[in-house]
Amino acid sequence: MSSLLITGIGQLVTNDSGVGDGSPLGLLHDTAVVVEDRRVAWVGPAHRAPAADAAHDVGGRAVIPGFVDSHSHLVFAGDRSEEFAARMSGTPYSAGGIRTTVAATRAASDEQLAANLARHLGEMRRQGTTTVETKSGYGLTVLDEARSLAIARQATPETTFLGAHVVPPEYTEDPGGYVELVTGPMLQACAPHAKWVDVFCEDGAFDADQARAILAAGRAAGLQGRLHANQLGHGPGVRLACELGLVAVDHCTYLSDADVAALADSGTVATLLPGVEFSTRQPYPDARGLLDAGVGVAIASDCNPGSSYTSSMPLCIALAVREMRMTPAEALWAATRGGAAALGRADVGHLAVGAAADLVVLDAPSYVHLAYRPGVPLVHEILP
Ligand code: NIG
Ligand code: FE
Repeated sequence: MSSLLITGIGQLVTNDSGVGDGSPLGLLHDTAVVVEDRRVAWVGPAHRAPAADAAHDVGGRAVIPGFVDSHSHLVFAGDRSEEFAARMSGTPYSAGGIRTTVAATRAASDEQLAANLARHLGEMRRQGTTTVETKSGYGLTVLDEARSLAIARQATPETTFLGAHVVPPEYTEDPGGYVELVTGPMLQACAPHAKWVDVFCEDGAFDADQARAILAAGRAAGLQGRLHANQLGHGPGVRLACELGLVAVDHCTYLSDADVAALADSGTVATLLPGVEFSTRQPYPDARGLLDAGVGVAIASDCNPGSSYTSSMPLCIALAVREMRMTPAEALWAATRGGAAALGRADVGHLAVGAAADLVVLDAPSYVHLAYRPGVPLVHEILP
């Protein structure tokens, strides 16, 4: 077990409100960190740092906890750039586009899917993401969903069974039969490879009763529930998530006052996905209303080939600040500690002693540059 002393940290975001400036970001200046066994072992002023086996100076740069991207769809094949181009010329986004990716994913080999996943994970890491959730949902047969999750599980423990993404073409006349497949043999084949079960609860996908049945079956198989809800219009999904006490509900673009109150009461994290609104030209969710109501907010990329083909958490932070009126501090917290909360994880998304040592060194003196310099590659290195 070797230790590393990191010095020259001009600004450290700990996300530990018990230290530093007392804000949620727990900001410290002119700080050092000791990492041991991939955990944060010590944080404090450089002149008081204990000895370590090796030392590394980051030259006055800002250091933040790695981003926790709690929502992505990375097991897929094919390309939907034409659909994007058509959308930019006025064609609205619809859930049906998912079927294009389903056809390409079914036709791809395991090796192609794994290589595509690895490519996207590499993009994410280069942009500062150190924890990633990813889903099935482009296979929609027992075999294709199970292999999608088995491939994802090789890369991350945060895997989600999304057999209920859309009803595949072969079940168009029998959606009830598809729900039986999802809650029966598909779930049995997928549960060993998944931590979470998810449903796209939306017009054109699955209704609240179907979502309830799928989440109940998933829970009986040992999976924790989460939902895609209120993305394309108002609906019952967010309130269902709150009623069931789910850890997180994702999208939350169209919310009524009752939805916001339910989120505040339940403690369910609202995961906002500004890459979707950017790429589909929809209105952005009311982040300020959620924060002012005391709702826990996460930001994630939703990286997928249809509604949001960005792997960049810094872009999502910049959009959250510019378009959703979050402060840079709120957006960074939502993209780190908020994402961790959305995955029920206490070990990532912060840099208190004992936390996972996922340190992202920015080529900047302050985390504010993440929003201030949109589109600029600001990740200098990831330590240890
Ligand atoms: O999170 N909303 C449902 N699923 C994805 C989009 C998938 C696609 O268009 O391929 C989402 O936005
Ligand atoms: Fe999604």
